[in-house]
Amino acid sequence: MKEIKLHDKVFVPYIGKERIAQAVKKVAREIETYAQDDQIVFVSILKGAFVFSSDLLKHYRKNASIEFYRLKSYEGTSSTGNVEIIVDIDAKLITGKKVVVIEDIIDTGNTLEKIISELKKKKPADLKIASLFLKPEVYNKEYEVDFVGMEIPNKFIVGYGLDYNELGRNIPEIYVLKQRKMVDVVLFGPPGAGKGTQAQILKDKLGLTYIATGDLFRHHIKNQTKLGKKAKEYIDKGNLVPDEITIGMIEEIVKDPNSHGFIFDGFPRTVKQAEVLDKLLKDKDLIIDALLFLDVPDERIIKRLVERGKTSGRSDDNEETIKHRLNQYHNFTEPVKDYYKKQNKFYKIDGVGDIDEINQRLLDVIKNLKLQVRD
Ligand code: IMP
Ligand code: MG
Repeated sequence: MKEIKLHDKVFVPYIGKERIAQAVKKVAREIETYAQDDQIVFVSILKGAFVFSSDLLKHYRKNASIEFYRLKSYEGTSSTGNVEIIVDIDAKLITGKKVVVIEDIIDTGNTLEKIISELKKKKPADLKIASLFLKPEVYNKEYEVDFVGMEIPNKFIVGYGLDYNELGRNIPEIYVLKQRKMVDVVLFGPPGAGKGTQAQILKDKLGLTYIATGDLFRHHIKNQTKLGKKAKEYIDKGNLVPDEITIGMIEEIVKDPNSHGFIFDGFPRTVKQAEVLDKLLKDKDLIIDALLFLDVPDERIIKRLVERGKTSGRSDDNEETIKHRLNQYHNFTEPVKDYYKKQNKFYKIDGVGDIDEINQRLLDVIKNLKLQVRD
């Protein structure tokens, strides 16, 4: 695969000339339909949209004029949220006209919002937006983009006018930022198996994102998020939090394109949750690489937790409740193992020994996994 380097980053091919050309033609046809017998004033947003504008106009078969508007919002590979007008348009070129803005890409929509509010002041007869690319996962504005060439996931792309710190605009195809290899694992085992302790060490050693559902709930409840408020209603009544809520919280985290992988702790707890998780990850081009099962016999667990109860004073650490929790685990959670066994992703790790020893066992398994490249 041919790679290109722009400044400090490496990019790999992503969308070829053919697909771009198709998207451009599609947008041109849609605008022709919209224009009817009126003359369109295209407003090309510089710099990024200059290549798309050129191709779009070549495919546009009705009468139209073009103006240029220059804004700036991006620095590096993330949107700054500050949009500046660098080259303005004379209002009389727009007033009373059917205006179609040509954008290269819409990410958060901050730039778009600014464009719409500024151009509306110039009183066009109508204002529509055409964008070659749209990132629906990050776009957070009400305005529905009128003409979209294609939707793409939340990835950073260059080429065909789009830049990374001013480089890459001249590449005729779309390239995407190459991500490091990543790994997504589920840390699994009975309560008291040491999952949390091990996950923390793995997180630090491998730079992974740690997702513990217990922490997620606490975080959301503390910050009174929409999901947190819903979760609290269930928790307050002593009920289990429904899967949709948990999945909603997880979704927010796994969509981070900068993560090098995820460690799940305390999720999935049921086969149904495992299925939902797979589906969610699939939508993001991700996959669970392994279920790491920390094997600790029940007698040991009971001993460990009873010991912990003596020092921590946790009221739930008496033998009876521990046995109850273990039963729950065996009945409802343990079948999750089979779910991953069927996918050849099950790894049993001896969970008895000292912390570093066990961690080394986990690392050995992870290092031998065939990792996915996320790009
Ligand atoms: P927004 O304001 O977050 O919607 O960002 C829109 C502007 O950010 C675009 O006009 C581009 O200049 C830039 N941008 C957004 N995503 C990308 C990308 O993936 N590659 C290059 N530039 C981008
Ligand atoms: Mg740019």
